Amino acid sequence: MTSPSRCAALAVVLLSAACAPMAAGLSARRMLITLYSVSSGSARTTAIQSNLNSANKAIGPTLCRQKMLQMNVSAFSFFRGSNELYYQDLKNKSTISATGSSFYSATATPWLQGDFHALNIGTYDNDAGTVIFDLNDFDESFVGNFLYDVYRLAASIVLVGRENSMTDTDIRSCVKSFVNFYCDKMSGIKQGTISDSTVLTASNTYGRVDDLIINAAASDTRKKMLDKYSTVVNSKRTFMTNAQNPDLDAVNATERTAITNAMTAYFTSTVTSSLKGNTAYFAVQDVARRLNAGTGSLGKSRYYVIIQGATSDASDDRILDVKLQGKPSVYPYLTSTAKAAVDNAVANDADRAVKAYKALIKGADNHLGYMSFLSGFYSVRERSPFKESLDTTGVDLSSLTNLAEQWGWALANAHARSDGGLYGTPASIESIVYSLTNGVQDTFKTQVADFAIAYGNQVSTDFSLFRASLAGNKLCL
Ligand SMILES: *[C@@H]1O[C@H](CO)[C@@H](O)[C@H](O)[C@H]1NC(C)=O
Ligand SMILES: *[C@@H]1O[C@H](CO)[C@@H](O)[C@H](O)[C@H]1NC(C)=O
Ligand SMILES: *[C@@H]1O[C@H](CO)[C@@H](O)[C@H](O)[C@H]1NC(C)=O
Repeated sequence: MTSPSRCAALAVVLLSAACAPMAAGLSARRMLITLYSVSSGSARTTAIQSNLNSANKAIGPTLCRQKMLQMNVSAFSFFRGSNELYYQDLKNKSTISATGSSFYSATATPWLQGDFHALNIGTYDNDAGTVIFDLNDFDESFVGNFLYDVYRLAASIVLVGRENSMTDTDIRSCVKSFVNFYCDKMSGIKQGTISDSTVLTASNTYGRVDDLIINAAASDTRKKMLDKYSTVVNSKRTFMTNAQNPDLDAVNATERTAITNAMTAYFTSTVTSSLKGNTAYFAVQDVARRLNAGTGSLGKSRYYVIIQGATSDASDDRILDVKLQGKPSVYPYLTSTAKAAVDNAVANDADRAVKAYKALIKGADNHLGYMSFLSGFYSVRERSPFKESLDTTGVDLSSLTNLAEQWGWALANAHARSDGGLYGTPASIESIVYSLTNGVQDTFKTQVADFAIAYGNQVSTDFSLFRASLAGNKLCL
């Protein structure tokens, strides 16, 4: 008998007797889905303003304004800063549903990165000290439909391509390369020919990714990172002042005491690596507030803590990145069952971000844990000396194709690692994605590319409405 995959592969060109029913079923399914339609006009302006104002209420008007100015830089930076709008749009347009995609399945729910765009992936060192290229931000992670991550990265490819004056034909080709790698890696992992434990390193990556890893490994050092943020005074490492480094600010006595007091619970009961309970290692040297970081999370309360590290020598000190966590943007759009599956298995949202990190990344940072102080829950990770992000300036068909392929690979690895039945994930996400897409990958690629171009148009429209709203002082109210 003709195998289903072979049948579907041939279906497009060869409507043989055996293949005809499947081909007809497929094209019917494809025609039934509702493509994303762009919203515009004054109702859209109002929707954008109310979405941004409610999403940024908690950080207050001054930091909100700073974030809006950062979002004002480009359509892509607007997209990075407005994840809440993306989820609201996908909900309002029923995009992630059987009517929005013929690749929707209610069981296709890995841990999501949750805000997967071209710059939420970069280099850092894992717990084995290897410089890897992988997903690097888990604030927005939750368990949900895999299409959310696939679609958001695909839309970001459109924005990056347009920033670099690429044609829609070339951009579509790049989106398809991303989906192609995602599906192929999922399929290889399902069939056991490759492993989701593989990490992307200098030896198996190419193009700008491999350049980024090689540069980070060669020119970044712990000393360089420590010297960027701190100085050694009487053999004790101390954070720079705001005048010395504008990304830092002094903490007040209340904050210093609260953070110092929260350390013991963090390293004795939330750290799970071999560092757990190591009082000397985690001895606090200094604490500072971290300013100006990120786009989406700009304005969120964040601190840096210098700890002693392996020896009392100031050269092996470590910097902990301590970040306030709340509900991720996808949260309001999940079923109560999906919410409960994670909520009942985590202590709080900082623990949720940490559990997501461990689920999605192989050999995750061994400083991961969380702290509770001043009525907030803060995730804790080490600030990697090898943290670098891609520069997408000047990409063309060839270089963006290379990047898109490796983004697809990294996402497939992350999703495939994160399953296993806990938190509402399926036993095997790779098997589900394989059965959804096997033999019909071209249809899937086309659907993702259609969405990405449409949503890229939505973001361009939104970006001009946003600029007008900013000029008219309608934001941060
Ligand atoms: C989504 O729909 C709700 C309810 O109709 C509406 O209030 C909101 O403004 C819509 N959001 C967007 C971004 O269109
Ligand atoms: C937003 O960016 C545009 C284009 O650079 C600029 O003209 C405008 O003044 C900026 N808006 C604000 C509020 O700075
Ligand atoms: C210290 O910082 C905390 C947290 O930002 C703030 O709530 C508090 O008002 C500050 N205390 C003083 C005395 O400035």
